[in-house]
Amino acid sequence: MRTKIVAGNWKMNTNREEAFSLATEVSGMLKNEQISAVKVILAPPFVHIGAVAQLLNGTGIGVAAQNCASEVSGAYTGEVSAPMIHSVGANFVLIGHSERRAYFNEDNALLAKKTQLALDHHLTPIFCVGETLPERESGKHEETVFSQLEEGLFILPDTLFSKVIIAYEPVWAIGTGKTASPAQAQEMHAFIRGKISNRYGDAIAQAVSILYGGSCNENNATELFALPDVDGGLIGGASLKSRSFVNIIKSFS
Ligand code: PGA
Repeated sequence: MRTKIVAGNWKMNTNREEAFSLATEVSGMLKNEQISAVKVILAPPFVHIGAVAQLLNGTGIGVAAQNCASEVSGAYTGEVSAPMIHSVGANFVLIGHSERRAYFNEDNALLAKKTQLALDHHLTPIFCVGETLPERESGKHEETVFSQLEEGLFILPDTLFSKVIIAYEPVWAIGTGKTASPAQAQEMHAFIRGKISNRYGDAIAQAVSILYGGSCNENNATELFALPDVDGGLIGGASLKSRSFVNIIKSFS
């Protein structure tokens, strides 16, 4: 059975106190409600990773960075590398979020480099793919997602690819309140799994967790998580409220 995963992407939100409260509340609620069948991951901003990881130590909740550098070390002012992230207690990293692709010009070749570096330094990549609205409206959504997979991920050998988590996040659904319909989500998740199967074989394809992201909330998560190829969610806005986030985690039946 595939691992069920719900990850909260806090984006550029929370000061130190808010980050502490949010992480404390989420871990407290999960403990009280004895939720253990779902792998929960929190992705705070870089500056809080060490403190949040320390706070969550022993809870089973994972910590992710929202990005990592494409180099290991050196004269890259302002960058944070995979080994640094791992050294402060994170075990996951988001790679290729659409905001990174759009606002920081991250292309598939750069993301392939980041993915490789993350894996080399003991971080599990949560590799994000997804089409823009014009791409969907012109029927190019599958083509876009396939090239993101092919150029960013399919360069990995089998042994490394099988460690990766994938998140499908249609750009038009992120932060817009407009969620992909269950049919659209299932269709794309099955498409992604099919492409993985062609490249790596069915056993690996069946084992990879593919998360849905884009205006996922406590009202629509149950329906989305029940889809056969949706293995959880990457949650933005709704992960900033502990109750909403935990209710989303509880949506797994
Ligand atoms: P959203 O963001 O849930 O606020 O739409 C999801 C994401 O960007 O990961």
